[in-house]
Amino acid sequence: MNVLLIGGGGREHALAWKISQNPKLGKFFAIPGSPGIADFAECAEMSIADNAALVDFAKTHAIDLVVIGPEAPLVNGLVDALSDAGIKAFGCNKDAAQIEGSKIFAKRLMKKYGIPTADFEVFDDTDAAKNYVRQKGAPIVIKADGLAAGKGVIVAQTLDEALKAVDEMKTFGSAGNRIVVEEFMGGEEASVLALTDGEKILPLIAAQDHKRALDGDKGLNTGGMGAYAPAPVVDAVIAAQVEEKILKPTIAALKAEGITYRGCLYAGLMIQNGTAKVVEFNCRFGDPETQVVLPLLESDLLDLMNACAAGDLGDRKLSWRNQSAVCVIMASGGYPKAYKKNLPIDGVTKAKALGATIFHAGTKLVGGELVTNGGRVLGVTTTAQTLREAVDKAYRAADVIHFDNAHYRRDIAAKAMRKA
Ligand code: AMP
Ligand code: GLY
Repeated sequence: MNVLLIGGGGREHALAWKISQNPKLGKFFAIPGSPGIADFAECAEMSIADNAALVDFAKTHAIDLVVIGPEAPLVNGLVDALSDAGIKAFGCNKDAAQIEGSKIFAKRLMKKYGIPTADFEVFDDTDAAKNYVRQKGAPIVIKADGLAAGKGVIVAQTLDEALKAVDEMKTFGSAGNRIVVEEFMGGEEASVLALTDGEKILPLIAAQDHKRALDGDKGLNTGGMGAYAPAPVVDAVIAAQVEEKILKPTIAALKAEGITYRGCLYAGLMIQNGTAKVVEFNCRFGDPETQVVLPLLESDLLDLMNACAAGDLGDRKLSWRNQSAVCVIMASGGYPKAYKKNLPIDGVTKAKALGATIFHAGTKLVGGELVTNGGRVLGVTTTAQTLREAVDKAYRAADVIHFDNAHYRRDIAAKAMRKA
């Protein structure tokens, strides 16, 4: 089977690593890929926003399955373009991608079909939004409607902050034209990703991301500073509840709206007092959740993705290693604000020798030397019998990797270990 992978971040490196374990894999390409993905796939420097060029590439290289990592090409209709050309793809179509691309679409869908989530109101007028905020009081959550790279959400602790947040939404361009004001939910967050063929769903084991830049969940929101799996906050009772009350009803709700959702559905959850509610849906694998979930998956991912794309999961089941996985993200100093690029990276080989898998998130090769090329640079990933062992192993490995101003959280998985 010839495969084309779209994307070049840490999530896509983990996907490439897992896909490459399938014995039936034929030619394997990635656009744009990364120095890490280049270990498995031939990387081509092309825009992932040009659907016509991507369809052409897939045709020219006799691709049997296109696997799409990031949300932007899904929201941009890449799967629809591929499907029109008769090319199979793992990922959802443009209509389905609204579940991530428009918070309002997702919230209205949940409300209509009784899927548990925070109460909300939608405004396209700043003054009306402010009046509502004054009426509800703080804490309260203000969100921009469209894709804002994870930055369009402000959890306001005071009324002043909330009113300021309403004004700030205007700075998100078209994403900020409409504003969602949402009830604040307390509790602990977790991510449950599920593979689906449009009918059946196979939930993956739960993971927990660490979205804030600094230890103790302080600092700014980021794309994710580290993750671990399984996440004990999703026990067997919660897992069953998520499957029956959230994942299955969401796929069915989309179907009732005339949308067949195939690919990976990511439910970002808030769990409190034995109840899970949806914070957000994403239309793709999580980053860095994928980096900790896939190392624990025993089943063949490429076979599963191909079956989802074909709309026929059949009676496939998932099997899991009885271990824990941790991913510590090493980021550029300053991230998620301005940071330097092109800083030489040392110690990756040494870290691998300590038993870690290093997923490249933002790196490039310059004259054969590995340098930084993004906010999130590397994901130092380990598995072990216990979470504590996996954490110790990950930090031993991270500590031997160096680039100027490298920053990583020291408390990845600490919450789960306190519970153990
Ligand atoms: P989102 O992009 O919708 O996932 O929001 C980003 C982050 O903001 C989430 O991961 C939560 O930590 C927080 N958040 C979003 N909505 C709420 C809410 N209704 N209550 C509490 N926290 C929230
Ligand atoms: N880990 C958060 C995300 O993938 O959106």
